[in-house]
Amino acid sequence: MVCSLPVAAEEIPRSAVIRFNTVCANCHEGECSGRLSFQSGVDAARGHMERYLGTITGTDADALFALLRHTKEHCTHYPAAAESPAGGAWTTADLAPWRNIREGGYFIPLGNVGAGSHRLQLRFAATARSGRLKITDQRFETLVEETLCPENTLETRFVAAGGPLYMTLQTQTELIGIRLDSPAP
Ligand code: HEC
Repeated sequence: MVCSLPVAAEEIPRSAVIRFNTVCANCHEGECSGRLSFQSGVDAARGHMERYLGTITGTDADALFALLRHTKEHCTHYPAAAESPAGGAWTTADLAPWRNIREGGYFIPLGNVGAGSHRLQLRFAATARSGRLKITDQRFETLVEETLCPENTLETRFVAAGGPLYMTLQTQTELIGIRLDSPAP
């Protein structure tokens, strides 16, 4: 299924994909019903986007609009290069490119995993005061949804059917490492 989606993986900048997933997906993920009309167009939707983002450029608005369209039409995550490091351990440097530096949070493609039990460990630079962790599969099925406790670490276990996984983290706190132990695909 993923193989049929290499559609223009470079078209929408990674920064927009991260922003969309950390800010907009809350309300718009899994909107596969065809409920949205898109009649109003990108210009009309810009004011709505700026309510959550502050002032954005026309290019930003176009990219976010295209992402919502992709979500609606394909009912899948936009293809984002999964760069899961060997051994399933991400360093601070691996994580930094996936941070939303404006509104906070992270969106991280965790890569393609095998079927079975998984364990994900997160390490924060400081006590995470508040936030939310979500893990979804390619079709926005939620596998994990947790409120962060005021801790420096978090560990969660879950079962997945195999395929690409995505982690969305909403928090202002910096991540300094994650580790995913999962069966080989
Ligand atoms: C708090 C919930 C919420 C958030 C956050 C949110 N939206 Fe929306 N958005 C809505 C609702 C509700 C509508 C009205 C459409 C409907 O569902 O009928 C809408 C409509 C839209 C439309 C118009 C679709 C059309 O049919 O013309 C676009 C485009 C859009 N949103 C993009 C975004 C983007 C991009 C973000 C992130 C910056 C975002 N939204 C954040 C709830 C939200």
